[in-house]
Formats: sequence, structure tokens, C-alpha cells
Amino acid sequence: MKWCIMKTRIQVLLKDKPIGNTVSVAGWIRTRRDTGDFSFLEVNDGSCLANIQVIASQELKNYSSEVRQLTTGCSVSIRGELKESPAKGQDVEIHAAEIVVVGQADPETYPLQKKRHSLEFLRELCHLRPRTNALGAVARVRSRLSYGVHQFFHEKGFLQVHTPIITTSDCEGAGEMFQVESSSENGEEQHFFGRSAGLTVSGQLQAEVYALSLGDVYTFGPTFRAENSNTSRHLAEFWMVEPEMSFCDLKENMQIAEMLLKYLLEDVMSNCAEDLNLFDKFIEKGLLSKLTGVVENKFVHATYTDAVDILLKAEKKFEFPVEWGVDLQSEHERYLTEEVFNCPLIVTDYPAVIKPFYMRVNDDGKTVAAMDILLPGIGEIAGGSQREERFEVLKSRMVEAQIEIEEYNWYLDLRRYGTAPHSGFGLGFERLVQFVTGMKNIREVIPFPRTPGSAPC
Ligand code: 4AD
Ligand code: MG
Repeated sequence: MKWCIMKTRIQVLLKDKPIGNTVSVAGWIRTRRDTGDFSFLEVNDGSCLANIQVIASQELKNYSSEVRQLTTGCSVSIRGELKESPAKGQDVEIHAAEIVVVGQADPETYPLQKKRHSLEFLRELCHLRPRTNALGAVARVRSRLSYGVHQFFHEKGFLQVHTPIITTSDCEGAGEMFQVESSSENGEEQHFFGRSAGLTVSGQLQAEVYALSLGDVYTFGPTFRAENSNTSRHLAEFWMVEPEMSFCDLKENMQIAEMLLKYLLEDVMSNCAEDLNLFDKFIEKGLLSKLTGVVENKFVHATYTDAVDILLKAEKKFEFPVEWGVDLQSEHERYLTEEVFNCPLIVTDYPAVIKPFYMRVNDDGKTVAAMDILLPGIGEIAGGSQREERFEVLKSRMVEAQIEIEEYNWYLDLRRYGTAPHSGFGLGFERLVQFVTGMKNIREVIPFPRTPGSAPC
């Protein structure tokens, strides 16, 4: 059976509009409507939000046997002439010369009948939900943002480093690593890698290796955290964008982060306008002006100490009380960005005791050259720092943090031999997609979410 006839993506057809040409598309039926001797088929192929309307007449040899039986979800391959459409809301339509029915979708059981489904319902159908308007749009926006990340860094001369997924170092030291064992492993003696290993929580330490050889680098890959937090902003598997720049201090680090965020928002707004309009209309009213506001305004800066002062003076009652030295909770971050500043906020110079060993100690001896970027509606989207480049200071921080120095000798070597100031940050990619799409729950913005107790597909 001929199941595909050199298809063109619908997005390309709607852009180029080669009126009068014979064109071929392949996709899934959204709706079928019959009038007398004709049927109107709405076909979507996932390349864009819009469907293409196909006019099927009774002249087609399989018109009554197959075309008239088509239901939502069936897959079809269509050849026909592209014509201007008299109908409202579309410029062009295809007058079919041939329709091949490729796959059926039993209307009795196909779960995505043409109506609005809740996002929670769709989460149960991770294998079918990209066929819906909203989740298809999320997938396209996610793909564009990912492309934008690579584009930004390559334009700026960064090299991409593939840092390992299986690692023996716990970058954040928060004890949230998944252990990796072979199925035949049996006790301490027989570790596959000769020692205990886990899934990476961050590619930073290995990115530092490359930054201190090659200059500006970035890594962008999946990271894993076994934190038992079932929130709308946490996943057990998520993607992180991590640039690492040598001969670079915290100030420059923050500039790069701000430039990256603005670049990605501008790029996605000009390349995914149709999808973003959908989110603006149905998911978060005012989304587009929110994004434009972020692009057009400078990010506000506040030190941790200033932020704590603001929180202490707040009228609002917080669930977690604030005092200098405690980590900011999401309620505090959101109060600062949504109620005080109402724009992106970079909080700097956190107390050393609540931050990992690798952050550079400030002259006051109490705080570190850290920065977190907070966004309204999201809270922390990125976290980074200048790294401790002084051998003795780093070593004593590691001892304090009870890190096995022997196992991190390679990391200390970077300070023993040709050390240099360097900085970097990690941008949570799903939190970025959440911000851009307005999706309230992080489970909507990754194809197959992994959370405690749940790993569909
Ligand atoms: O702040 P984090 O833990 O920073 C690091 O891992 C650094 N080593 C990064 C670096 O400097 N290269 O994580 C960075 C970002 C957070 O700001 C947040 O956006 C995201 O990663 N993130 C998560 N996203 C989804 N689910 C989780 N469980 C996340 N944990 C962190
Ligand atoms: Mg953080």
C-alpha cells in the first residue's frame, strides 16, 4: 500500500502557499464534516497549530467506503491541489485527488475526541497528549527554546561539552542522587565502576574542567534529583542549561544569564507566535506582555541580606519564618518577585552555610558570590556563582562540608595548576518552558514527567 506521497509539512504549505500546485500532506484527522456530496476534513500534522482543510468529493474512489468513515485520530496521507479558500479563517485548502487512509482510530475507544480535555486528564495519556493543541504547542515551543540555547552559545563562541550522565561526584552535595548499579551488582565489593556511582545532579564540575582548558563552554542535558518534593516546579528528571566561563566574575556571569534569558524569549516570540497566542488566550492571560516586559526591562538586583530585610518588614505572614542565614523558600521568592519588584530579580551574596562548597567566599568571610534568578510566577529559574579558585580556601570549604578530599583531587588540581577565576550558572529548562507557556504545572512542559511515584511510558 502506498502510505505516504512525499509529504510537505503543513506549516510550510501555509507559509509558502503554492496556489495551484499539487501538494501532499500526511497527518491525523481532527474533524470530518459532510455536506451532500462533499466532506471537509481538518487535518493536523503537528508542524504547527493550524489544521489544513481538505475537500474530499465523492469522485474519490474510496469516498463512501473509507473517507466518509474517517473519525478523529485516524491517520491519512493526502494528495491534491492547493487552492485559495473561500471559507473564513483560512487562506488555502486542499482539493483532494487521492486520500490514503493509513491508520484507524476506533471512535468508541479513542480517548482524544474533539473537545477540551483537562491538563490533568491528559497527563494520564502522555503517549497521546502531544496530539492536542496545547501539548503540541508546548512541544514546539520547547524544541525552539532548545534550539535557541544552542544558537545563543554558538553565536557567542561557546563550545558545547557533553558532560557525563553517570557520575561519581555529587556537585550540589545535597544527597539527592539516584544510585546506579548493574542488575548483577551485589554489595560494596562489586560496584560496576569500582565505587559507588549515581546519576548526575548537575554537569557543572565537569564543565569547569573544560572551562579551565577551553574557555567558555556550556553543557545542556538531563539531570536527576531524588528529592521527594511533589510540587508544581520539581521533577526527578529535568534538563539544565549550564554555561561555565573562565576569566569571568559574578558580574559578568549575571550579564550572560540576563542576555541568555532575553535572547531566548525574543527568539521564541518571533518564531512561535501562533503557539504563544494560544497560551496567552487559554493558559495565562497577559502572557505576551509579561514576556515582552522581561525582554525590555533590566533585571533588578538585591543582595540576600537586603532581600531578608524586605521579607522581615513584610506585612505578609509566611509559613516559613525568615531570618538571616535560612534559605529562601518559594513563598519568599514569589513574594519578592510578584509583590515587591514585579519583575525578574537577581538575588546575590547568600550566606556561605546554605550554599555548596564550590562557591567563592566573599571578603566578609560569611557570604559567597552566588546568584539566583527569580521570576514572577516561577520563583528560582537559575542558580549560579563565581567558583572558588583559591586552592586553600576551596580545600577548607570542602573539609567543612565533610567532602572526601581524595575523591575530588581532580577538582582541586584545577586550582593547583593554572587556576583562574571562573563562573557559571544552571538554568532549569522546564522552569523556562513553564514561564514561556504559562503552564502552572511542570508536568505539562516535559514529554514524560518523572516525579515521586510516577514515571509513565
Ligand atoms: O540551583 P541548582 O541546584 O544549581 C546547580 O545545580 C548548579 N550546579 C548549577 C550551576 O551553577 N552550573 O539548579 C539549577 C536550576 C534551578 O535554578 C532550577 O531552575 C532547576 O535547575 N532545578 C529544577 N528544575 C526542575 N526540577 C527540579 N527538581 C529542579 N532542581 C533544580
Ligand atoms: Mg538553586
